Amino acid sequence: MRVLDRLDQLYAIGGGPGANRLGGSAEEDEAHQLVAEWMREAGLEIEVDSAGNLFGRLAGRRPELPEVWTGSHLDSVPAGGRFDGVLGVVGGLEAVEQAGREERTQVVVAFRDEEGCSGPGCVGSRAFCARLDPRPGCFVELHIEQGPRLEQAGAPLGVVTGIVATARGEVVFEGREGHAGTTPMAARDDALVAAAKFVLALRDTAAAVEDAVATVGRLEVEPDASNVIPARIRLSVDVRAPDEARLDAVVTAVPAELRRGKAVTMAPELTAVLGQEIERVGAPVLELPSGAGHDAGVLAAGGVPTAMLFVRSLNGGISHSPDEHSADEDVELGVAVLAATLARLASAVD
Ligand code: GLV
Ligand code: MN
Ligand code: MN
Repeated sequence: MRVLDRLDQLYAIGGGPGANRLGGSAEEDEAHQLVAEWMREAGLEIEVDSAGNLFGRLAGRRPELPEVWTGSHLDSVPAGGRFDGVLGVVGGLEAVEQAGREERTQVVVAFRDEEGCSGPGCVGSRAFCARLDPRPGCFVELHIEQGPRLEQAGAPLGVVTGIVATARGEVVFEGREGHAGTTPMAARDDALVAAAKFVLALRDTAAAVEDAVATVGRLEVEPDASNVIPARIRLSVDVRAPDEARLDAVVTAVPAELRRGKAVTMAPELTAVLGQEIERVGAPVLELPSGAGHDAGVLAAGGVPTAMLFVRSLNGGISHSPDEHSADEDVELGVAVLAATLARLASAVD
């Protein structure tokens, strides 16, 4: 299947292990150029906006009608997986080609720097939504689940109900540097020890709140020398929860201001269409929330009617890892359901 070959081509950019196309890197640029070529081959009209987002447009017979959009992102975390983001772009392009020219214009978009490994994330979709010009009539994102629920349920596909609320930012711990060999334990002000206590307290706080999660994934130590007591720690905090109240309950443990992202709900009229198309291919219709952030969340928060279709992740749902995996036949089914959904949405004239 062409989609699988294209996933491999994108996975090879940047060398291994895993996917290495960080937001803002030359590797992300290379992925955008490759996808732009595929869009051109498919007869789509290409556009790149000031944020570097890539749009491929298949003109409809009634260009005055609201457009039907699909897509995702091409950047990855370091040593990421084969499917995260790229499936939504490559599968979206395949689905638009399968759907073919319809009444409404169809657009495949690749947003920039969704992962935000050292920043706020969803950089491209946020920049796009600051203007919303043109305003999509709807957005349907295909993505892998990145969790274990579909595998556990024996369902190849899932319909997303909503995306969790998020809080992200940094905390700094200050201490005092000193000689590792001569400073008695009782006389130390070790910033890394303070940071370690915070990491454990944050874990315990999140574990006590149903369906909340918290992660410290980056840590900078100053002066970063094995024989000097750490004087300054800067660490990242990433908190997620299904609603604001549960997010607040975890954020109370963080001694810093965090950037917040509201929980969003998917558009019921679009999730209904996805459900019907999943039924049509004979698969069970499983609805589930997304714990991962997505460009779809930014578009939904911007007022664009939005839906997401998940493809089952295998290996216990592991993601942001080279072990990320989905079966070829599940990918094919996801693309077919997306194509049928886009064809229906793009053929509607009212
Ligand atoms: C994106 O993958 C995120 O949820 O961090
Ligand atoms: Mn993603
Ligand atoms: Mn990701």
